[in-house]
Amino acid sequence: MHNIYKQRREELIGKLPRNSSILIPGADTVYRNSDSSFAFRQESSFYYFSGFSEAGSLMLISNINNEIKSTIFVPEKDKTKEIWDGFRYGPKGAVETFLFDHAFTNQETEEILPDLIHGSEKLYFAFGKKAGFDEQVIKWVQKANSKDRHAQNINLIDASSLIGNMRLIKDEDEINIIKKACDISANAHIEAMRHVKPGMNEQELEAFYLYNFAKDGGRFAAYTPIVAGGANACVLHYVKNDEELKDQKLLLVDAGCEYEMYASDITRTYPVGGKFTEEQLAIYKIVLEAHKESINQVKIGNNIMDAQHKSEEVILKGLIEIGILEGEYEDLMSKGAHKEFYMHKVGHWLGLDVHDAGDYTEEDDHMKYKAGMITTIEPGIYIGEDANVDEKWKGIGVRIEDDILVTNEGNENLTSKVPVDPHEIEALMA
Ligand code: GLY
Ligand code: MN
Ligand code: MN
Repeated sequence: MHNIYKQRREELIGKLPRNSSILIPGADTVYRNSDSSFAFRQESSFYYFSGFSEAGSLMLISNINNEIKSTIFVPEKDKTKEIWDGFRYGPKGAVETFLFDHAFTNQETEEILPDLIHGSEKLYFAFGKKAGFDEQVIKWVQKANSKDRHAQNINLIDASSLIGNMRLIKDEDEINIIKKACDISANAHIEAMRHVKPGMNEQELEAFYLYNFAKDGGRFAAYTPIVAGGANACVLHYVKNDEELKDQKLLLVDAGCEYEMYASDITRTYPVGGKFTEEQLAIYKIVLEAHKESINQVKIGNNIMDAQHKSEEVILKGLIEIGILEGEYEDLMSKGAHKEFYMHKVGHWLGLDVHDAGDYTEEDDHMKYKAGMITTIEPGIYIGEDANVDEKWKGIGVRIEDDILVTNEGNENLTSKVPVDPHEIEALMA
């Protein structure tokens, strides 16, 4: 059942030189206040290589003296703690169910780990990712080195790219889970378009999204939803979500559920009252064209900057056409004039994390698309209230975001179910 995780561990150690080890820490419980904790979420890479979901765990995979071993440190079995907080696998269960070669309790880490890394010429872990962990590793290394003055020194190497680039290419299991996450989120957006009314509060609509995610199996949002009425859409990371939604204004909702640990990420912008005004529609159509043209750039052979450049080109041309920017296209592009209104990147990797692991460059160049990668495409135009433009444009913010799988044939839009065509949106909201 958990073979996929074991396979990933084997693939990972296969990428490392002989006499090396890799350490991957799990997440700890995080407290919201006093002793009230947030719902636990496992660290994504730890989950990717273990499938194990208990707080305070750690894994080590090593290939020393031609012996490949996987070891996990987990919370101990404890009857009282299990009465309060629920079932624990304990070391025995971790070996049996998650197919590690060895397991210990996490209280034994200090004692045992230095012995296990002793003999490694190289010790890999992702630098700077978990608070306090880098210092902890250094202490274990010092302890391991002090065991034998003449033994091989342990060299520390950052594993971020190694792990991230494995996660970047999704296998079939992962693609199926992400498709399910995308479907749940797509349905929530469709239901919300039908449900929203002027006078509702942003947080009421946020709750509507969360309800729709949870009822289909996505209990948590993959990130805090952005539910932004009117000019709030121009605050890129608006999460206050506490204002009234007004007729004649647009609503930008960036919301996606997490399903079985995997993220989806969808943005739609639609009119609160069900009808776009002329100005809103003019901006919307530019973003829609940028969105479609950028998605067309997502294919094997292209790199991530092809979609970026296409989105900037379409947006700048559109802004010139409707008179928001004045001047020659080439001149305005070289000055980056459009960046006042489109200031973020066109997309990011999507997977276990909404902004997923994986490099954006390779061999001194931009990362090329490969089958199995999933990227968002999310161009936008944001005209703040203080922009130096005609009054009629102020406070309009539009983003359209879909999740795109790179395939051998081109790409597959995993979130295309939610309408983007303004007439279709108006029809759905009528
Ligand atoms: N929802 C976060 C993003 O779109 O990047
Ligand atoms: Mn995104
Ligand atoms: Mn988003």
